[in-house]
Amino acid sequence: MQNKGPFFLKILENIEISDKIYKMVLEGGSIAHNSSPGQFVSVKCADLTLRRPLSIAGVTENTFDLIYKIKGTGTEYLAALKPGDTADVIGPLGNGFSIENKNYLLIGCGVGIAPIIFMGNILEQKKIPYKSIGCFKSKYKTDNEYTYCITEDGSSGLKGRLNDHFEYILSQAKPDIICICGPNPAMQYVTEIALKKNIDIEVALEGDMACGTGVCMGCAIKIKKGDKLESAKICKDGPVFKGEEIIWG
Ligand SMILES: Cc1cc2nc3c(=O)[nH]c(=O)nc-3n(C[C@H](O)[C@H](O)[C@H](O)COP(=O)(O)OP(=O)(O)OC[C@H]3O[C@@H](n4cnc5c(N)ncnc54)[C@H](O)[C@@H]3O)c2cc1C
Ligand code: FES
Repeated sequence: MQNKGPFFLKILENIEISDKIYKMVLEGGSIAHNSSPGQFVSVKCADLTLRRPLSIAGVTENTFDLIYKIKGTGTEYLAALKPGDTADVIGPLGNGFSIENKNYLLIGCGVGIAPIIFMGNILEQKKIPYKSIGCFKSKYKTDNEYTYCITEDGSSGLKGRLNDHFEYILSQAKPDIICICGPNPAMQYVTEIALKKNIDIEVALEGDMACGTGVCMGCAIKIKKGDKLESAKICKDGPVFKGEEIIWG
């Protein structure tokens, strides 16, 4: 069975790329080799009992990236770490987006961009066609390029929010499948349109978690499987689910 750690990994970079949003690069061949887009790691933050889940935002031969927003104690702790410090990490955890030879539209809103950047890299490597949308409050200082960048303040690309531009972009991109990660209202909006238009859609949920490994039921949700309701764990059965399975709260 694959060793998921805990691994004690050297931080190579930890920089602020937008207001309270950081990119961390960690050394970690095992996680880099075994992850697929949509999967996450679980990071110990000082003496907090619960590890914090963060999506893998990209890999190289021996490193992987995280993109995270300061929300509370755990992410504040992470933001204060310096290159050369060590992070205690378990992963990769959960499932990822399906990768097939289809025409993809990738959508990341805010820090939901993390798994979307990784997915774009993998589709590029596999020469699978895709277009991408990055939606942010304001421009991120990273070198990632999206087919369509949307910022609320107009500092990069199209000005506004996802729903101001989505239907037009959809008519241009004509995807077979959409993969999205971001706040629930954005994911619900896109899912409803995709399902109406018979476009496959996969969503990466970022709900609350406790153990992160399928043991505690702390992340249990109800999902739809045809006419039936089933229980699922975001950390183990997700975080990626098919759009039609989600019951939006
Ligand atoms: C599978 C998964 C992948 C994730 N990937 C990323 C990622 O790539 N980048 C990133 O920035 N965040 C990601 N998150 C969310 C991230 O885990 C939380 O923001 C983080 O755990 C907050 O920890 P904290 O100690 O800083 O804040 P806390 O002190 O725990 O919480 C501070 C505030 O943030 C809210 N909060 C806590 N967890 C979440 C959450 N999951 N979603 C929304 N609000 C929350 C709390 O309700 C509270 O109001 C992911 C979550 C999941 C489940
Ligand atoms: S967080 Fe414990 S089962 Fe998912």
